[in-house]
Amino acid sequence: MIVAIYPGSFDPITNGHLDIIDRARKIFDHLIVAVLQNPNKVPLFSAEERKRMIEEAVADFPNVAVEVFDGLLVHFARSRGCRVILRGLRAISDYEYETQIALTNRKMAPEIETIFLPTSTEYSYLNSTVVKEIARFGGCVRGLVPPGVERRLREKFSSVPR
Ligand code: PNS
Repeated sequence: MIVAIYPGSFDPITNGHLDIIDRARKIFDHLIVAVLQNPNKVPLFSAEERKRMIEEAVADFPNVAVEVFDGLLVHFARSRGCRVILRGLRAISDYEYETQIALTNRKMAPEIETIFLPTSTEYSYLNSTVVKEIARFGGCVRGLVPPGVERRLREKFSSVPR
């Protein structure tokens, strides 16, 4: 039984992330989407909000679970019996950063392999920062994020002066 972990900030989850989850759940026996609670960053959504939005989006995927973690990813992965860390690669520009994370994690936990999945081309330009920028200034994010995220972004920014 291969358990894979898909870590990230997911602030918020986009359809690019969801595409990776949907493809990975068909490869691995069990997939844990791990939401980082990062004390060094002030996110738009709390870790619990981010978790809930992902749970809604993956409700039809029986072998996918969502958890919040803090501290080192490899410690969390070990505690869940994960042998694979999964990351999406959008473009060559992601490669350097992702390799640095992967090699750091391998140094600390050689028994855990990082596997990269290329993002589908229609989402290769997409990230959470772009989505927040569009939503903040009243643009339409339909098709870029799951419907529950679109609604929450609208709620979040309707009360914030631009
Ligand atoms: O979505 P992101 O912000 O690109 O995800 C980055 C993430 C969560 C994969 C990375 O920051 C992480 O694993 N942080 C936990 C701390 C850790 O384990 N650091 C050592 C590896 S860099």
